[in-house]
Amino acid sequence: MLKGSKIWYNGKLLDWNNAYIHILTHGLHYGIGVFEGIRAFETEKGTAIFRLHEHIKRLYTSAKIYMINIPYGYDEVIDAVQETVKANAMPNCYIRPIAFTAYGLMGVNPLKNNIDLAIAVWNWSEYIGEDKKGIKCMISSWRRIDPRTMPVQAKATANYANSALARMEAIKNGYDEAIMLNIDGMVAESSAENVFIVSNNKLKTPPTTAGALEGITRDTILHIAEYKGIKYEITNITRDDLYSAEEVFLTGTAAGVKPVIEIDNRVIGDGAIGEITSKLKSVYDDITRGKEERFAKWLTLVK
Ligand SMILES: Cc1ncc(COP(=O)(O)O)c(C=O)c1O
Repeated sequence: MLKGSKIWYNGKLLDWNNAYIHILTHGLHYGIGVFEGIRAFETEKGTAIFRLHEHIKRLYTSAKIYMINIPYGYDEVIDAVQETVKANAMPNCYIRPIAFTAYGLMGVNPLKNNIDLAIAVWNWSEYIGEDKKGIKCMISSWRRIDPRTMPVQAKATANYANSALARMEAIKNGYDEAIMLNIDGMVAESSAENVFIVSNNKLKTPPTTAGALEGITRDTILHIAEYKGIKYEITNITRDDLYSAEEVFLTGTAAGVKPVIEIDNRVIGDGAIGEITSKLKSVYDDITRGKEERFAKWLTLVK
């Protein structure tokens, strides 16, 4: 991770090294926080933030679910993200807005705590494994959180304890990433990515009702599939569907389109990056780098 120089915190741009919170910050203790992961890319027209509006809308939806009142209006947050990217002068960066229950009162009830909002940016080159080679996954022994116990569609800090357990297990066992099943045994998602398979030349991804976050990269891939005439279906996927798929890949803001070449020591397809995965990945890379005019509306040029 290449760190930035400034962090936006409650309306002020602070030096990276001075952006601290108190040890008794409520959200740190009780996991009440919502965040986004957004990316900015270098394009011919300058630094552009990919699907900024969709990400900030999701931030507000996550906040609503957790009864977090973000103390800034939508347009102010949009401007603050741009201001932070600009202040850090990083043409390619990952952007992390986070709203959390602030220092003030302790105890499980968060309703009386103020909400802090921070926006940080940094540079992540490869989030998991190498794009060129593809990655190896395991099916986690941890089941994905279930909508009956935690709100899966909120991108909330607390949810990532489940993700981190799965990811640690995968890494300790020599894999790059974990794929998690839901409590009914259907594929939900990965620790921080959505899952796609190609089966009989058709693209498939689990529905959000299977426990998958409504990923913005997932949505982008479905639009690309439509544009390129690739048939797709949103449907439940079983563990054996994964093993027998012709191609498997993961999608997420940090990871991009990540080909999977092995799951639980079963080689996927012929063990190389599949044709449909390559095609989708290359269009995705072109869109995010401003090389696909048809999708230019998804890019917000940093003013
Ligand atoms: C649990 C989880 N699923 C899926 C995704 C992919 O979502 P997106 O494509 O919006 O980054 C993420 C990343 O935000 C995630 O954390």
